[in-house]
Amino acid sequence: MKNSVIKGDKFILGGDYNPDQWKDYPEVLSEDIRLMKLAGCNAMTVGIFSWAEIEPQEGVYNFEFMDSVINRLYENGIKVILATPSGARPAWLSQKYPEVLRTTERFEKKHHGERHNHCYTSPVYREKVKNINKKLAERYKDHPGLLMWHVSNEYNGICYCEKCAEAFREWLKKKYDNNLDALNSAWWNAFWSHTYSDWSQIEPPSPIGECSIHALKIEWKRFVTDSTIDFYLEEAKVLRDITPDIPVTTNWYWCQEELNYKKFSKYVDIVAWDEYPEWHSPKGDFNVANEAAFIYNHNRSLKDGQPFMLMESTPSCVSYRTANGLKRPEMTLTSGLQAIAHGSDTVQYFQWRKSRGSFEKFHGAVVDHEGSENTRTFREVSALGKILSDTSEIKNSRTNSEVALMYDRESLWAVDECLGFKTHDMGYEKTCFAHHKCFYKNSINIDVIAPEDDYSKYKLIVIPMLYMMNEETVNKIEAYVKNGGTVVMTYISAYVNETDLCWLGGFPAGKLKDVFGIWNEEIDSLFDGVTKKVKSAGGKIYNAVDYCELLHTRSAEVLCEYDEDFYKGMPCVTKNNYGNGTAYYIGFRDEGDFIEEFYDNLINEMGIKKVMDKLPDEVVAVSRANENGEYIFLQNFSKNTVEIAEKYESMLERTQIKDNKIILSPYETAILKKGVDVN
Ligand code: GLA
Ligand code: ZN
Repeated sequence: MKNSVIKGDKFILGGDYNPDQWKDYPEVLSEDIRLMKLAGCNAMTVGIFSWAEIEPQEGVYNFEFMDSVINRLYENGIKVILATPSGARPAWLSQKYPEVLRTTERFEKKHHGERHNHCYTSPVYREKVKNINKKLAERYKDHPGLLMWHVSNEYNGICYCEKCAEAFREWLKKKYDNNLDALNSAWWNAFWSHTYSDWSQIEPPSPIGECSIHALKIEWKRFVTDSTIDFYLEEAKVLRDITPDIPVTTNWYWCQEELNYKKFSKYVDIVAWDEYPEWHSPKGDFNVANEAAFIYNHNRSLKDGQPFMLMESTPSCVSYRTANGLKRPEMTLTSGLQAIAHGSDTVQYFQWRKSRGSFEKFHGAVVDHEGSENTRTFREVSALGKILSDTSEIKNSRTNSEVALMYDRESLWAVDECLGFKTHDMGYEKTCFAHHKCFYKNSINIDVIAPEDDYSKYKLIVIPMLYMMNEETVNKIEAYVKNGGTVVMTYISAYVNETDLCWLGGFPAGKLKDVFGIWNEEIDSLFDGVTKKVKSAGGKIYNAVDYCELLHTRSAEVLCEYDEDFYKGMPCVTKNNYGNGTAYYIGFRDEGDFIEEFYDNLINEMGIKKVMDKLPDEVVAVSRANENGEYIFLQNFSKNTVEIAEKYESMLERTQIKDNKIILSPYETAILKKGVDVN
């Protein structure tokens, strides 16, 4: 626990700092410090890609430059988040020990190059990494500037070498208690004669080898998560042994789908996240805001509401998309404050200064090639620095949510592998985002939890498309509803168990048929562009797209039924009272309008708390609270200037208030304080 809070009473503003790229430019290095102070930066992440600098040859260490950087930052009031360099290794290491190089899924050995391309199993790589980590920890263990450890960088990717394959087999033997028959039956290997007669026959899934056993693919991803965690733990152990009081984290990002972050989150002191929302893209800003909000709500929920870090973000643009547009005025501020609103205690940027050459020279940075503070981006970052410093009482406050949405990485893996339905676009995450939006647009705080979390503190739990569900989750949902909880579950939920075997006896799995009072007999998957009519009990018509499940009621009340095709008259939305609670089931995918109205009604009926009510379209309020009251982040994601009645104390000097109305320009954020005595 002692390491679960970012030390200090200020929010962190900072970013990835790569001074080793500028060793030959001493004037740039001193200018960096002046500019950092001007912007209000108080912590910099250093050393992420510094291995070649600090160990230029095997066993030869050179810490002089790193010392000077860390000392200089510290002397100027800037702390250091120190990275271990395992994300990219020096050429000498790959050359001398080729086993550290990664093997692709087509079993080809890669050459040296890029980054994040090592084998997680290689004993040599693990040894070399532990060694350099030890040197770093010993060198800086007593440095007063050391704030925390940033282990590696965005662990990602998979190695398919023979060492990894052997480790996978050992992992399986342990999991299946050395019982190959148990594995064969859990994976349904009699299908196409895929029964293994010896452990050595099991290979990682590959497009040129075994790619048809779904359970193998799921287990492989579980193994990849575990082996990445294991690698991280070896890195972290060295640091924790030498610096027990320094928090340890590693930075994650959303599209790294091989990793189950819920599992990983137990092993980091603080969740650290890299987020690059695609603002101003054709998706529409409010949809982008909703997805980012979902991700931040997920980050915060990974460790039961503990504040997280926005470890990387861009102050202006990125450089890896097909079009790398600029953030519109105010968006740098609002994008950073969105993370804070949802529970981050930091806003950090990739990158502090644009690198002069190579891969990311046009990626946004606080300091441009031009080099001064006279840029739009620098001014916005500095304005954010002032806001963060003026609102530091919010640091370490928590989010109170009555609603949770259940999201599961393993279910994502399974649904992505699933053949049948709409194979190439099952739309799991899109569905999660759509349901989340119904709460977000209503300014309702919502957690994004995992099946293994505690459900008891929520009034309402939303479960979109939880295709893979194990018995424990089935039992937990049953108990939650029985004890008075309300659940909304959708189509394609509770179809398969943890090794991707279909639940027998009808969907949804086991006792969920009693909880929801239904049986889901079939699912009709619709071609793109095809719709089916759905009629509510009140006679309102909606369109079903993609999926229509054909339900039978057992004890549930019918809220909507299909209104066309051979399933006209069959139920598609139901409500069932079970124990002291209520279970709703939505059996079709709608065009957004149905769930919006459905949740609007449910929110009213259940009296779910809105942070603020009756806000203009695309303006949302999200809150954090502590013993001093509730802090409301009012964010305008629309292109319009809006006026909102001033109900609570405005915390920012820059917020315009006229005739008791808060005026928010496009993409502007205000922060309001609702003291404990205000209703
Ligand atoms: C990732 C990496 C950074 C940088 C950024 C660019 O998040 O961690 O090193 O490459 O992407 O957006
Ligand atoms: Zn390997």
